[in-house]
Amino acid sequence: METLLLKGKPVSDSIRLALAPRVQSLKEIGIIPKLAAIIVGDDPASQVYVLNKTRAFEKLNCESQTFRLDVGSSEKEVLTLIDTLNNDSSVYGILVQLPLPNHLDAKTILHAVSSKKDVDGFHPKNLGLLLEGNPNFIPCTPQGILEILKHYDIPVSGRHAVIVGRSNIVGKPMFALLAQKYEMGNATVTICHTGTKDLALHTKQADIIIAAAGSPNMITGDMIKEGVDIIDVGINRVEDNSEKGYTLMGDVNTESVMGIANSVTPVPGGVGPMTITMLLVNTVKSAEKCVELVAGC
Ligand code: GUN
Repeated sequence: METLLLKGKPVSDSIRLALAPRVQSLKEIGIIPKLAAIIVGDDPASQVYVLNKTRAFEKLNCESQTFRLDVGSSEKEVLTLIDTLNNDSSVYGILVQLPLPNHLDAKTILHAVSSKKDVDGFHPKNLGLLLEGNPNFIPCTPQGILEILKHYDIPVSGRHAVIVGRSNIVGKPMFALLAQKYEMGNATVTICHTGTKDLALHTKQADIIIAAAGSPNMITGDMIKEGVDIIDVGINRVEDNSEKGYTLMGDVNTESVMGIANSVTPVPGGVGPMTITMLLVNTVKSAEKCVELVAGC
């Protein structure tokens, strides 16, 4: 079986192309979708992610301002900044880059972001609306995965999807999206995690695998059935002797699934490009909502 590589760039390009006239319409009425990104500390992967975000926003004539806080910043300092941004009418989206330093409680901080500017979709109100089947902001990576499945005509309804990883960022919202009764969902969904006794027992039964555990090469060819569609969310920095000092590796051992799987997303170049694109989508949507509901934004 020839395994199709599900590249994210064409999907991302077509979504960004469709966003451009929406940004232009907002510009004509004096609104520029602006994201405020907060980064605490100097985690190298987070620095790259935030830089890529800024570039993508500028390319689409949107704005992205990064607030860099010292690694030792107190919870109060972070909460004060969030409060200022919640009340800044030029800011339509607020993002707190994860992971946060250990001394900060991510829950307290994420709950402080206004649910109306929560373009990451991490606020409990937005997660609750998603579970209810009435989403407001959908977390970017799971939303991007659905766009990949849609773009490449990969059927979801009635199939067995196995998600590996139960994070709030990917695994849990992905479950809500795939299990929901609507045209892009309606799947039977299993979530595997570190407490799962025999991972291969489950992955061998999957029609779709969403690998989002943050564990390099965890899924191998002997753990899958023929014809499965695989979405690899992992972007793991594995240290080596290369010039960069590391290589990016997915959660899936891509080489070993080639010829068995129907399709697989490459790493890098699969899910990665989608996350920032969906952040753009959510920020533009947030600005558009403010136009509709001036009093409420
Ligand atoms: N860290 C890794 N992925 C994400 C994401 O989607 N949003 C935020 N805020 N932090 C992340």
